[in-house]
Amino acid sequence: MTESRRVLVVGQGAREHALAWKLTRDGAEVLVAPGNAGTAAMAENVPVPAGDVPALVALARDRRVDLTVIGPEAPLVAGVVDAFRAAGLRAFGPTAAAARLEGSKSFCKQILHRGDVPTAMYRVFNGAARARDYVEAREDMPMVVKADGLAAGKGVFVCDGREAALEALAALGSDPQFAAAAGSILIEERLDGVEVSVMAITDGRTIVTLPPLQDHKAAYDDDTGPNTGGMGAYCPAAFVDADLMAEIEARILVPTVHAMRRAKVPFVGVLYAGLMLTAQGPKVLEYNVRFGDPECEALLVRLESPLLPLLDAATDRRLEEVAPPVWRAGASVTVIMAAEGYPGPVERGRTITGLAAAAAVPGVEVFHAATASRDGAVVTDGGRVLAVTASEASLARAKLQAYTAVRAIRWPGAWCRKDIADKGLRQEHALLVAAEADATDAVPPEEGDAPA
Ligand code: AMP
Ligand code: GLY
Repeated sequence: MTESRRVLVVGQGAREHALAWKLTRDGAEVLVAPGNAGTAAMAENVPVPAGDVPALVALARDRRVDLTVIGPEAPLVAGVVDAFRAAGLRAFGPTAAAARLEGSKSFCKQILHRGDVPTAMYRVFNGAARARDYVEAREDMPMVVKADGLAAGKGVFVCDGREAALEALAALGSDPQFAAAAGSILIEERLDGVEVSVMAITDGRTIVTLPPLQDHKAAYDDDTGPNTGGMGAYCPAAFVDADLMAEIEARILVPTVHAMRRAKVPFVGVLYAGLMLTAQGPKVLEYNVRFGDPECEALLVRLESPLLPLLDAATDRRLEEVAPPVWRAGASVTVIMAAEGYPGPVERGRTITGLAAAAAVPGVEVFHAATASRDGAVVTDGGRVLAVTASEASLARAKLQAYTAVRAIRWPGAWCRKDIADKGLRQEHALLVAAEADATDAVPPEEGDAPA
């Protein structure tokens, strides 16, 4: 790259740190609004909150930013990309109308229906009381209760049966946040299977599919405990082989992009499909309209080719011109280190030590999720604090290196899941055993072996 490009990354988590890290390596000069202690060490933090759309527009204009990359969903749903476009500025991400794919679960279902994309069966209700009547009248079976709007992952209740569903509806009905939103409620069939994340960069027409990942949404080992924003991820997820990836593209991602265009809300940005691999094939649990977090961290450490040309081309609707991305061989693992109490309330301001030692572990990048600088020290500043990420020749090595780095880092109350990537390791093992069985079946019998 000859001239340096100026890029603004909006957000303050580990996803945004990983984006700033990669874009810096691409040769860009990076601003982050508002960023954290990690982004401050490698880019320029500007103290503008991710939700202050007019201030972001002013920042991009005043600092002559070429491209703004929006990390979190809330500003997208609030129309940050529309505001940038109206001001003649370039921003990577969907418009508010297209971001409803994440912002409204009922809109998402309508699009899935129009595109004939496989998803759970569902009904939409106007308020908790109507939903309750339905649950009481129907068969006692597993179901999922969802609030329609954005709820930062807190509006979904996976229920074993009627009693749990009624409890979920009572909780939603009495929650002032949902009552104030007067939102719709979805009741869905519960899907069973393995959950994976598949993301694609799209300009509304062409898609560039990224390698599959698996997140770990439950707080504790063996997928127990409360739901979180994600406790770790790994890439690639061996549950999705090349054939399944082709099916996911052809039956899910491409029809969704087409359905959005036909609905006159072309989708530009990252289309993130949360999928359940069911016995009947892959089905959409939800769409997100931005990079996953922690998926983004595990993804970008494996991206060998530059990211910026992909984001540029998607923004300018010429993605078909860009060479496909090149991925490092091997695998990556991201382990989230969280503060005591997460996903509940946490105390901030605990001093973190060992960051330099962790970063010195071969193959490791430590992305900051919620940190701040205080008197020359890095302190905790939220629930998910660090995203310790390793890229290695194998998934087993990546896990080893990530946890080696985790052990170097300390603050009072720090904790993490110990089993990130274990499902992937078990799947790799199972595939190996199956391949071995196939191979030995094909071996001709040794001389002297009696034919059966
Ligand atoms: P969502 O925000 O819609 O992705 O839901 C959050 C989590 O709830 C998902 O990651 C799944 O683990 C779970 N979930 C959502 N919908 C379903 C469903 N229909 N069946 C089973 N689990 C679900
Ligand atoms: N990792 C889940 C999400 O970003 O929504």
